Amino acid sequence: MIRHEYLVTQAGYRPSGRIVPQDFDVRSPTHDDRIALADLMMSAYVGTIDYDGETHEQAVQEVDSAFADEALLKESRVAERDGTIHSAVLVSLVDGDAFIGYVMTRADDKNTGLASALLDESIAAIWAAGYDRVRCFITEGNRPSERVFYRAGFRVIGTIGKPETQRVNPLEALRAKWPEQVAQLEDVIASDFLRSRGGGAAVSEVDGMLEIEVYDEASAEEAHRRWPDARVAVVPLPIAEPKMTPRESQD
Ligand SMILES: CC(C)(COP(=O)(O)OP(=O)(O)OC[C@H]1O[C@@H](n2cnc3c(N)ncnc32)[C@H](O)[C@@H]1OP(=O)(O)O)[C@@H](O)C(=O)NCCC(=O)NCCS
Repeated sequence: MIRHEYLVTQAGYRPSGRIVPQDFDVRSPTHDDRIALADLMMSAYVGTIDYDGETHEQAVQEVDSAFADEALLKESRVAERDGTIHSAVLVSLVDGDAFIGYVMTRADDKNTGLASALLDESIAAIWAAGYDRVRCFITEGNRPSERVFYRAGFRVIGTIGKPETQRVNPLEALRAKWPEQVAQLEDVIASDFLRSRGGGAAVSEVDGMLEIEVYDEASAEEAHRRWPDARVAVVPLPIAEPKMTPRESQD
């Protein structure tokens, strides 16, 4: 199974604009929600590409791990109705970045915009807390998750998977698939014009095409001029290291 690591910066985030319906209560989770979240986890994951036969007891353990000391509970969100949690976004702190460990929606509520709406709320809280980058992992082929996160501006920054478990450069993986196009792409990235403007931000596969991200409109025009078939996205220049520290203490 191949999993990609995704990243979005504050400047690159695109809110979905979805709203959680008013009959839901949206709030941060507490430790008292551990069983309700395990129920949600089972409903959300069973039958999906990411379900590996876990039992309810294991789901409770996973929730407990998500609630361990690096959890960002204030920035996490659940949507509750009539005592049942229907959707959740659970956030923790990993290597100084906010990390979305779980996004899940009950089977009966999927594709109604709940996860997208909760993600908007959770990410607004993440920015408000002073973090400027959010990461997550998505299994390749988890289409609903890819859809939600890609639309929100998340982009692949690394890959892990069998048989090799170490992270590989996504460009190398793309090169193996599209040697000519990637060579052309590198030509674009290496051009003096793009280099003088910060270069290329990222390369990814979108809808079966290569997509190059650049930092401004002028670079996008140059990339189009040099490679008319390219799909080019403009993303503002990410803030360089060191990362910001959270403004508030965590729960
Ligand atoms: C991923 C998940 C949280 C999304 O929750 P959700 O509340 O259904 O999300 P939304 O309704 O906001 O958005 C889902 C999007 O995926 C799209 N989608 C669903 N199935 C799809 C498919 N097979 N191919 C492409 N897109 C698909 C929907 O059409 C929708 O997009 P739209 O808003 O443009 O119509 C939910 O599917 C889930 O719980 N999956 C199991 C747990 C999981 O895999 N979590 C993510 C781990 S990284």
